[in-house]
Amino acid sequence: MDEQMERAGNFLPRLDEEGVSRSNEVDRRVVSLTAPASVAAEQYRTLYYRLERMREARPMKVIAVTSAVAGEGKTVTAVNVALTAARANLDRRILLVDADLRQNQVATALGIRGTPGLSELLAGECEPKDVIRRFQSTRLAVIPAGAPPEDSSQVLASARMKHLLAKMREAFDEIYFDLPPALPFADAAITAAMADGVVLVIRANATPLGAVSEALERLAGAAVVGCVLNGAEAGMGPYLRPYARR
Ligand SMILES: Nc1ncnc2c1ncn2[C@@H]1O[C@H](COP(=O)(O)OP(=O)(O)OP(=O)(O)O)[C@@H](O)[C@H]1O
Ligand SMILES: [Mg+2]
Repeated sequence: MDEQMERAGNFLPRLDEEGVSRSNEVDRRVVSLTAPASVAAEQYRTLYYRLERMREARPMKVIAVTSAVAGEGKTVTAVNVALTAARANLDRRILLVDADLRQNQVATALGIRGTPGLSELLAGECEPKDVIRRFQSTRLAVIPAGAPPEDSSQVLASARMKHLLAKMREAFDEIYFDLPPALPFADAAITAAMADGVVLVIRANATPLGAVSEALERLAGAAVVGCVLNGAEAGMGPYLRPYARR
């Protein structure tokens, strides 16, 4: 595991608002869209191509992004990596799914309508065609979380979810799941177990080490392929610094 983590290890820099162009409703931290030439966007490309290299060793269609606790940068990471994927491979079909049914943050980050979404789909209230949306002019398809259900872990563990994921696997080449944090809820472990690869986001200078190892225990059985250190001050590193102001 440690060796794999190292292979996928990646540093994502702190995303400051300066230098990132304003977009109408899209969160400015979605740099892969708002500032594709930025150093930060380059870091998401690095992460994406690391995943690509891992795919050479074994197929990984479904990638889930989680973290130990709340607010570590899962949504920002999942959205940026999915957008990077959509830009990188014009012949692949890319899907981003908000499986954090409690918060619906992907829709907020992308400035799109949040309902209906995955929860309505899993409740049998609508069809995939009603919830899958193409994001702006990109090739990214998105399923927002929808309205929070009362029992999100049960909904995610349902046979309907497994069936839906099987259908998604047929229809898309790469699928990215934004998950809730692993420690407070069962949701993340349930969904992570269905993914081919799980990326663990760790907030630099914030997440206690104990929380990270506890989260890894919770995720036992899931294919954790790597971690990203998010918001690292030193994330830019000596190699990228000379390019920062270009
Ligand atoms: N690299 C970064 N630099 C600066 N701000 C960041 C960075 N990554 C995330 N943020 C900000 O931190 C906050 C939390 O990020 P995000 O919503 O992606 O975390 P999360 O792990 O998905 O949270 P939750 O557990 O609530 O789902 C947001 O305001 C986001 O814009
Ligand atoms: Mg989130």
